[in-house]
Amino acid sequence: MSGKVSKYLFGGVVSLGLFAFALSGVSVGAIYTGNSGCKCHMGKGCFEGEEYKERLHSNTWEKRLKGTPDSENPDCLKCHATAYGEKIEGAGLKYLPNVQCEACHGAGSEYKKLKENFEGKGKDAFKALLKKDPFEARKVQYDAGLIVAGINGPATVKEQCMKCHWETKDDKNRCPKTDKLMDYKEFFKKDDHRDEDELDVALKKMSAEDKKKWAAILPKDEILNTPLKPKKKD
Ligand code: HEC
Ligand code: HEC
Ligand code: HEC
Repeated sequence: MSGKVSKYLFGGVVSLGLFAFALSGVSVGAIYTGNSGCKCHMGKGCFEGEEYKERLHSNTWEKRLKGTPDSENPDCLKCHATAYGEKIEGAGLKYLPNVQCEACHGAGSEYKKLKENFEGKGKDAFKALLKKDPFEARKVQYDAGLIVAGINGPATVKEQCMKCHWETKDDKNRCPKTDKLMDYKEFFKKDDHRDEDELDVALKKMSAEDKKKWAAILPKDEILNTPLKPKKKD
């Protein structure tokens, strides 16, 4: 990641101990907050949070590593945990157990600040922007380091999954404890936790002018270009 990030850095203006932003939208210096930092999404009745608890990602460290000789083995933590070897909020943490939100969505500190105090205008400022201009709101999220396949992280969602999954038996990046292969289509369906939100609604009635304005970005945003699954799971 750091190689990629530095490539985008403009003029190397990393001020000491402060956060600097890369122009590409990858947030340099963002740190991992853990799922507790994603609490807006984790509340009762909230789609992502409720569904997440049912997914195997949410307890894979407890289930597979905890209490075993491999509980802190880096070779296992890179897939069964989050942010191993990265900067994590809170003293002395070496990793966050399980595949947490930030394993796919990126380190959340800058993104969290944006939600809490966009442009220093308080906690409702981001919501106001989302209402007024959902696409601009989407863009400032990318800029704060929210990783979205196609835009600022992996080229495709599949590539994002392949960090920890494999499709062939001879893949070197695979788990030594299982022979199961990923069937990407099936796995994506199982793991898809999108629902219809402000952006999807706005997208449907996007003006020609807006289409033009966002032409450089929107077609690359894979999340917006993959049909949503039907409303309720069975
Ligand atoms: C490249 C990522 C990756 C690495 C490295 C990795 N795992 Fe896994 N592991 C997985 C995935 C993904 C699964 C689940 C596969 C599935 O169910 O389709 C899994 C499954 C397991 C299982 C369940 C196996 C079963 O019976 O179904 C155990 C136990 C496990 N891993 C332990 C470990 C240990 C211990 C290490 C380190 C020595 C390790 N893993 C390293 C990704 C990884
Ligand atoms: C295994 C990877 C992974 C994990 C873990 C994960 N997500 Fe996602 N998330 C995705 C992908 C992939 C998408 C859709 C495509 C994209 O954004 O690139 C997505 C989409 C979303 C969206 C957009 C939803 C919409 O309706 O448009 C939200 C919000 C979200 N995730 C929140 C979370 C939260 C909160 C967590 C932790 C509880 C989480 N995600 C964990 C991969 C992940
Ligand atoms: C940080 C590593 C990591 C990433 C990234 C990741 N996964 Fe996983 N995934 C795992 C591990 C570890 C397991 C095994 C959970 C268990 O059984 O303990 C798993 C299990 C799963 C399962 C359950 C498989 C089963 O046998 O039922 C699905 C579905 C899945 N992942 C989908 C995805 C998708 C889709 C993506 C990409 C958007 C993704 N994962 C990205 C680590 C990851």
